[in-house]
Amino acid sequence: MSMYEIQGGRPLGGRLRVQGAKNSVLPLLAAALLAPGQSVIHNCPDLSDVSATLDILALLGCRVAREGETVTVDAAALSGSAIPERLMREMRSSVIFLGALLARTGSARLCYPGGCELGPRPIDLHLAALRGLGAEIRENGECLTCTAGRGLRGARIHLPFPSVGATENAMLCACGAQGVTTLVGAAREPEIVDLERFLNKLGARVSGAGTPVVTIEGGHPLHGAEHTVMGDRIVASTWLCACGAAGGEIVLTGVEPSSLDTVLSCLEQAGGELECRGEEIRFRSTKPLRGIPPVHTAPYPGFPTDAQAILMAALAGGRGQTLFVENMFESRYRHVAQLQRLGADIRVWGRSAVVTGCPLYGQRVESTDLRGGAALVVAALGAEGTTQVTQLSHIRRGYQDMEGTLRQLGADIRLLPTNRDTGEDHGICETQPKAKTPPQPAWRAL
Ligand code: UD1
Repeated sequence: MSMYEIQGGRPLGGRLRVQGAKNSVLPLLAAALLAPGQSVIHNCPDLSDVSATLDILALLGCRVAREGETVTVDAAALSGSAIPERLMREMRSSVIFLGALLARTGSARLCYPGGCELGPRPIDLHLAALRGLGAEIRENGECLTCTAGRGLRGARIHLPFPSVGATENAMLCACGAQGVTTLVGAAREPEIVDLERFLNKLGARVSGAGTPVVTIEGGHPLHGAEHTVMGDRIVASTWLCACGAAGGEIVLTGVEPSSLDTVLSCLEQAGGELECRGEEIRFRSTKPLRGIPPVHTAPYPGFPTDAQAILMAALAGGRGQTLFVENMFESRYRHVAQLQRLGADIRVWGRSAVVTGCPLYGQRVESTDLRGGAALVVAALGAEGTTQVTQLSHIRRGYQDMEGTLRQLGADIRLLPTNRDTGEDHGICETQPKAKTPPQPAWRAL
């Protein structure tokens, strides 16, 4: 049990390479299962979600090794096709293994844990796509047994909503199906393009990723391959929002600027100065960020739901009003109550939230989910006084060494132990000045 203690108000400065993308590496590792050979994946971030995925691969009989940021997966000796509930609970996105296991072994079994901190996480679109490819799926409570007794066959699959996970699952499964599969209404996220690149290196024939129609010529023999994971556009967005909140000038490398276009345009409208060249983003923020036109989360190329909390946190400590509309997940405002503890003026009605920028003040706050936790860190960097952020396990699912990275940019952030039983810190509360009581926004009195 540990927490961050952040002294806000220090401008950020410096240059750093952005870690590999969590949302890319998970489907890539599932794809490594498809080939009876050794795959080498570089730029693999050290995250709890990645460790959980590697545990699943090892349990299924793969030989897995990590050396620094390179992971080797040898799936030649794959021996299982069932994922135990314990590992599913650790990493909900492991539903991505369904398609890959079906393609490689003709069967897959896992227990799906249902909802999560973002609200219900249905997988009906995943299952419909796999059924369309010939999978027989039996649902027994929360457990799924999938078989391809009569073989998988290429088909035209229509996705009524461009689900990222369902698109990836269908692409993986279609690699093992005989004939051509056409996915219509596919998600267009850059991580899907990264998956297409790796699948083609494995010997598959996939085209169209990044557009709403993806075509997979299935049944080709696959072999191991080497791949470098794309840079994480949400982590990059986090460092930029942190700089927007705290002020300063940073340079990010290792991420394709166009993959975070919508976030960059919001930060520019808020008063930040941007310069992009190749895989390099230079960002400068000299004044408090100002309110911007409404931000609606949407499938790519729209504004990413994963950056909603993070941008909201940066604007909460700025000036002026911004309306957010969350269209992707039901419960994606859980960070709001924690930001309000720092003094943020945020009103929520259903899917909408209005943020009115005002000075923020250090307090003890709790991460509610992965991006909500990152948002608290962003707000804390721009707040006056000391903020403690607890429940870091959420943040570790998606950020490799967040404290080290921010320290590299000059932030005053320390990792400290938390007393599990009392929820109190070891020798911290006594020594630090009390945070100022934040001014209460007028609407709270209503
Ligand atoms: C992925 C990302 C997640 C991001 C999300 C949306 C990974 C590991 N996670 O999640 O960080 O927030 O995309 O950009 O890549 N839906 C259904 N039925 C389904 C599948 C999805 O109704 O079968 C709904 C979901 O409840 C949600 C919406 O579709 O409301 C988007 O979900 P989806 O695109 O599938 O997100 P994930 O792949 O789970």
